[in-house]
Amino acid sequence: MEKKKRYLVTSALPYANGPLHIGHLAGAYLTADTYVKYLRLKGEDVFYICGSDEHGAAITLRAKNEGISPQEIVDKYHNQIKTSFEQLGFDFDIYHRTSSDIHRDTAQDFFKTLDDKGIFNVERSEQYYDEEYKQFLADRYITGECPKCSHPSAYGDQCENCGSSLSPTELINPVSTLSGKSPILKETEHYYLPLDESQDWVSEWLERGLDDGVEQHDVSEWKKHVLGQCTSWLKEGLKPRAMTRDLDWGVPVPGKPGKVLYVWMDAPIGYVSAAKQWALDHNKSWELYWKETDTKLVHFIGKDNIVFHCIIFPILLKLHGGFVLPDNVPANEFMNLESKKISTSRNWAVWVHEYIESYPERLDDLRYVLTSIAPESKDAEFTWLDYQARVNNELVAILGNFVNRSVVLTHKYYEGEIPDVELKAEDNHFLNKAQEFVQQIEQDIEAYRFRSAQAAMMSIARIGNKYLADEEPWKQIKTDPERVKQILRTAIDLCACLSMVCHPFLPNTGVKLRRMLGAEAHSWPTTYSEYSTMRSGKLAQTEMLFSKVEDQLVEDETNRLQSSKEIIEEPKTNYVEFEDFGKMDFRVGEILSAEKHPDADKLLVLKVQNEDKVHTIVSGIAQQFSPEEVTGKKVCFLANLSPKKLRGILSEGMILMAENEAGELAFLEPSKAMPAGAKVS
Ligand code: MF3
Ligand code: ZN
Repeated sequence: MEKKKRYLVTSALPYANGPLHIGHLAGAYLTADTYVKYLRLKGEDVFYICGSDEHGAAITLRAKNEGISPQEIVDKYHNQIKTSFEQLGFDFDIYHRTSSDIHRDTAQDFFKTLDDKGIFNVERSEQYYDEEYKQFLADRYITGECPKCSHPSAYGDQCENCGSSLSPTELINPVSTLSGKSPILKETEHYYLPLDESQDWVSEWLERGLDDGVEQHDVSEWKKHVLGQCTSWLKEGLKPRAMTRDLDWGVPVPGKPGKVLYVWMDAPIGYVSAAKQWALDHNKSWELYWKETDTKLVHFIGKDNIVFHCIIFPILLKLHGGFVLPDNVPANEFMNLESKKISTSRNWAVWVHEYIESYPERLDDLRYVLTSIAPESKDAEFTWLDYQARVNNELVAILGNFVNRSVVLTHKYYEGEIPDVELKAEDNHFLNKAQEFVQQIEQDIEAYRFRSAQAAMMSIARIGNKYLADEEPWKQIKTDPERVKQILRTAIDLCACLSMVCHPFLPNTGVKLRRMLGAEAHSWPTTYSEYSTMRSGKLAQTEMLFSKVEDQLVEDETNRLQSSKEIIEEPKTNYVEFEDFGKMDFRVGEILSAEKHPDADKLLVLKVQNEDKVHTIVSGIAQQFSPEEVTGKKVCFLANLSPKKLRGILSEGMILMAENEAGELAFLEPSKAMPAGAKVS
C-alpha cells in the first residue's frame, strides 16, 4: 500500500437542533481532536473539518416544539455549538454549516452528476400524507403502535422501545405528529439509489479493503464493532433507498419543487462543501485533500452513523467518482450518564456550554475524564463521582503533583535556573524509559486507542513521581547537593516531555506547562535527548495545573440532574425489559455492623459485606430495627445502585425489604446458607 502523505479528518456534523452534551464530545469529537493535535505536533499535513448539520427532521421537529422557524433554530444552535467548540480549544480548520449556499450548490451538483449518469431509479409509491398540514410526513413525523413489541409510540423509522427498525406503513394506527390525526396514503415520486447494485463492490471494499482489486486500507485496523454492524447490514442485503423527500426544509432537488435531498445525501457532502469554503478562504486546494489517492481520510463518528459512513456515503463517493474513500471510520459507542441514556428531549445530559460556564478552569479536566472512559469498543458511563475521583486521584495527585514538585524544588534550590549539568547514565536511562511511553502513545493514537494513549501519558508522570520519591532530592540536598542538580534537571526535562505529549489530551495544561518552562519549540519528541530543547534555561513563575474537585461540586451537579428529571417525567410502563433487569446486580450481603445515622433518626448506616468489597448503605429502617438486631444478618441488596449521599453519608446500594399493609418491614434472607456476595437473580 502506498504511504499516505496527508490526512483529511472529519468529525460527524452535529445536528443544529440542540446544545452539545458530553455524549457528543465523547463520541465523535474529542478523539478526533486528539488525533489531529497529535498529528500536527508530529508535523503531518492535516486538514480537519466539521460543521453543523442543519437539515433533516431533527431540525424541523425542534422548531415546531419551540414554536420558531427552522432557520431560527439552526442559527441559534449553530452559533452556540461553534462557540462551545472554540472555547474547548478544538483544532478545526473550518467549522462550516449545511445551510450555506456553497453547500447547497455542492450537494445539488453531486446529485446532478449521479442523475446524469443515470444512477437513480425514479419510482412512484404511496406515502403517508397529513391532509390538514398538506404535507408528506417524514418517518419521524409519524408515530403508532410498534408491530413487534406493541409499544404505543414507536416512530415511523424505529421503535425506541424494542430497537426494531421499521417503515412507516408497518405502524399500527399511525398518527401524524403535526395534526395528531391519522394520515392518508398518497402517491408520490422519488429518486432511489440502487444500493443493492453496489453490494458486491462495497462488501469487497469493507471486508477486504480492495477497490477494483487495489488495496485501499488495512481491514485489520478497523474496529470490530464497526465492521460487525456493516456485515450484518450487508447480510440482510442492501436495498434501494430513496434519496429525496417531500419536505420544504433542506437542499432543493434541482428541477423538482417541493422536494429536498434526503439528509444522508446532503449532510456528508457537507464535508466536501466545507473543504471548498476553506479553500476559498485561504486560497488553497480542496481537491488535494479530497481527490489525491495519497490522502488518508478518517471519519470520526458515533455508532448511530456507522452504516451511513461505511456503506452509503462510500457508495455515493464511488458512483460519483474522483473522491478518496475513508481509510478508517473509528466510530465510538455511546456514553451513558449516571446509569441512564443521555437524552436531549428528557434533559438528561451534561450540557457542554453550561459546563464551560460553570467551570472555565476545568476544561482539561473534562477532556481528561471523557478520554479516560471513551466508549471505544463498548458503551461507557459518566458519573460525577467518577469524574471527581479521576481528577483528584490522577490529574491532581499524579500529573499535577509531579510537575509541581519539580518546579517548586527548582525554584527553591536554584531560583528557577535549571541546572546545566551532565546527567548520570541512570538518569538518561530513566528518561529513555519515558520515551518508551511516548512511543506507546504514538502507536496507540495511530490505532485509535485513545484511552490507552492517555494512560501511557500519565505513566510518564507516574514514573516521574517514583523517580523523585526514590531519589529524595529534599534529603540529598543536605548530603550531596551536586547530585540534586542532576535529579532536578532530569525531572524538569521530563516535565518538558510532558508539556508536549500532554498537548493532544490536555491542550490548556500544555500551554501552562510550556509557559512555566519558557518553552518555544512545539513538536513531538522523537528521542529523550530532545527533551532539554523543549524548555529554556530558566523557569517562569509556577502555575497550578489542576485543582481538587470538592464534594460540593459532585453534589451540585447530581442535584441539578435529579431536578431536571423531575421536570420531565419519564414515560411509565408496567414492564421492565430483560436487559434492564440484567443491569441490576443483586447480591447476598452480610451486615457486618450497623449504627444510627448521626443526623437522621429514621436511618441506619450499615456496613455490608459483598464478595470482596464492603458497602456503606444508608437504610430507612431505624424505626423498626435496632443496630444490634440487624448486625450479622445475611440479606439481599442491590449492589450497583448509583451511589448517593443521604444526609451527608454516601450510600452505595440498597437493602431489599418486604413491606405489608401495616407498614411492617422484613428482610429477604436466603433460605439456606449462602456466602456474602452470592448473586441473586
Ligand atoms: N447530524 C448527524 C448526527 O448527528 C450526523 C451527520 S454526519 C454527516 O447523527 F456525515 F452526515 F455529516
Ligand atoms: Zn417495538
